[in-house]
Amino acid sequence: MSVLYTDIGELVTNDPEQGDGTPLGVLTDAALVVEGTDVAWVGPREKAPAADTRVSCDNAAVIPGFVDSHAHLVFAGDRSHEFAARMSGQPYAAGGIATTVAATRAADTPTLTANVARLAEELRRGGITTFECKSGYGLNVADEARSLEVASAFTDETTFLGAHVVPPEFREDRESYVDLVSGEMLRACAPWAKWVDVFCDKGAFDVDEARAILTAGKEAGLVPRMHAGQLGPGDGIRLAVQLGAASVDHCTYATDDDIEALAGSSTVATLLPGAEFSTRARWPDARRLIEAGVTVALATDCNPGSSYTSSMSFCIALAVRDMRFTPAEALWAATAGGAAALRRTDVGALAPGRRADFVRLDAPSYIHLAYRPGVPLAREVVKNGAPA
Ligand code: NIG
Ligand code: FE
Repeated sequence: MSVLYTDIGELVTNDPEQGDGTPLGVLTDAALVVEGTDVAWVGPREKAPAADTRVSCDNAAVIPGFVDSHAHLVFAGDRSHEFAARMSGQPYAAGGIATTVAATRAADTPTLTANVARLAEELRRGGITTFECKSGYGLNVADEARSLEVASAFTDETTFLGAHVVPPEFREDRESYVDLVSGEMLRACAPWAKWVDVFCDKGAFDVDEARAILTAGKEAGLVPRMHAGQLGPGDGIRLAVQLGAASVDHCTYATDDDIEALAGSSTVATLLPGAEFSTRARWPDARRLIEAGVTVALATDCNPGSSYTSSMSFCIALAVRDMRFTPAEALWAATAGGAAALRRTDVGALAPGRRADFVRLDAPSYIHLAYRPGVPLAREVVKNGAPA
């Protein structure tokens, strides 16, 4: 079955060979043909080949589906009061994670599954067609494995984050917790996970602990990614580069040395503007990262503590308004950048052979994603060639 989507006023392909010659590869007055689950053809409307069905996009913009490479969706409980307190001047601290850990451990599995289903639906409705999902609110063998089993029902991009913080029962014996995460917990979780992550920051894990856990994860066949540089500067970003991590996330306090290391590497810097918004933190220096040639992604960091948004459009608006991305850089980071952070070559762009994952906007241009903040512009979401 082939479908011709035509009358596309502005088609963002993320294929620099197309259209305007920029990284976004923008075609105007374009068409796209879907064959089964994949894109079969993109190009000017008048050159489109015939297809079984024809859909007019009424001159609207069409963009690749957003790729959210950082989300913590498996949890229970509510921390809205913490957000309110922060807005009145309380600082964010990693310690708040323990509140969600207690609620998650106490929740039954159907409750956790229903919560992930609700958030996955929010992500989809906003135009996210691929998302990563971390554990990290179980922090014991059974609850971390259970979290990943729940996440696996929704996405293949599952991440073992047993090293989110040291749970209360190990507070006096961190070393034993690091051993548990790198040993028994890793063995129980590895079958359910593709990635291994560590929160390497003040109040969480130091670089030696992070190195031990990520190295054990690599030996178990998982690929490292990291949280680093969110709460202060440190050696986490350079450790991520040394270990060949796919991505290092937050980078709010990235130093010149960190940026130099990232620029010479294949590690993506994933910026999470929802976290700066919700913790009233300083903004990362996105311009320095971009201008140094670092591959930059944008992700929601959807979680109940530091960034409870499921909206990539909102993150794009913040990136443009407050982190000085151009609208084009922000859209690229939220699509192709996210795909790079997940080492995916089948999503994040619209070209023959890629997955037919795209969003038809209620707008004539992708610039409206930042220009009309807070407005639900994802009019139709297509995933694997089918309306999602
Ligand atoms: O990515 N930084 C660590 N983890 C989350 C916050 C988790 C929480 O506060 O519950 C983050 O921001
Ligand atoms: Fe996170």
